[in-house]
Amino acid sequence: MTTDIQHSHIGARADEAFRLRRSTRPRENGELARVLGDPKFGEHFTDHMVLIDYSEPGGWCDARVVPYGPLTLDPASAVLHYGQEVFEGLKVYRHADGHLRTFRPEINARRFALSAARLALPELPESLFIESIRQLAQADAGWVPHQSGASLYVRPFLIATEAFLGVRPSRQATYGVIASPAGSYFADADEGISLWLSRDYSRAGLGGTGAAKCGGNYAASLLAQQQAHAHGCAQVLFTDASTRTWVEEAGSMNIFFAFSDQTIVTPPLTGTILAGVTRDSVLRLARDMGYRAVERPVSIDEWQTAAVTGELREVFAAGTAAVITPIAELVGDDLLIETPGGGTESIAARLRAELTSIQYGTSHDRYAWMLDLGPVDS
Ligand code: COI
Repeated sequence: MTTDIQHSHIGARADEAFRLRRSTRPRENGELARVLGDPKFGEHFTDHMVLIDYSEPGGWCDARVVPYGPLTLDPASAVLHYGQEVFEGLKVYRHADGHLRTFRPEINARRFALSAARLALPELPESLFIESIRQLAQADAGWVPHQSGASLYVRPFLIATEAFLGVRPSRQATYGVIASPAGSYFADADEGISLWLSRDYSRAGLGGTGAAKCGGNYAASLLAQQQAHAHGCAQVLFTDASTRTWVEEAGSMNIFFAFSDQTIVTPPLTGTILAGVTRDSVLRLARDMGYRAVERPVSIDEWQTAAVTGELREVFAAGTAAVITPIAELVGDDLLIETPGGGTESIAARLRAELTSIQYGTSHDRYAWMLDLGPVDS
């Protein structure tokens, strides 16, 4: 990728690696206030972005925070042809003590490295990943919303930039981080969303890239997502590719089932499911709340039967963007399973309150999940 900054190699200290070039045209205050008043999701981008280049044999270099803007890519770049790309998603919260904090970023950093390894991309050191989040959050601190329920969604990504059409791993890559103020992912999700059971398409197969957070998985889900929308559903439910029996993921979220025997179940991580940070946190918080949290397969048949007998109390989805969202129904060609959870006393709502109170700093961070990104003025 072309760059306007001289090459500089990255030493042992990630915090000293970054150069900052401030935007000369930051968003004007009135417009920023308007955006932050109703940020929606993924529609507005902050004034800056992080870039770090990688090339063989030199490794990572030129860590920089620069004005947000288009990237210059050779049209032969591997990412444009073979989809060699991975990404992450995490949030930065503004706390009442004037500090910005983020939630369990080391898990995103490790998953980013695992995703990169699966896509034959270079692994970014954890310290650089975390420092890149801190640098961008500090540069664009004014973009972190004040209101509860809103945050700054941060999107790290890594693309293969070598200009070469042979099919082999790229020897050049660019890491980037952009950020976008975020409110709710789903409009009106409090009473639950509808899922469309995809019988035609799979998200991932054994030995594939299902456990990696790569753009290809999301591209492969879009047609099914389109079908879901055509059937009036907000998201698609994916089952296993081989037998179409076992529940895997709800769109881009992990899925949970709450049974009347105080058990909360989510499908196990067998290589086709993304290891969600929210998923892991929900398992921990559910145990703290007295539930038995279990990772085991759940079939569509079990879902249907348990909904009819009343053993299934609630179904909900979990992810960084959507937090915890109740699932009101599963719809298919010849199927309708209703699981009306919702309401402030639901298990999903209580788990969400527990999780977000830690994230927004209104309850004790008993697991030291929040990482302090430093104080800010505004
Ligand atoms: C996230 O929750 O961070 C996701 O990955 C969903 C996103 C693709 C919008």
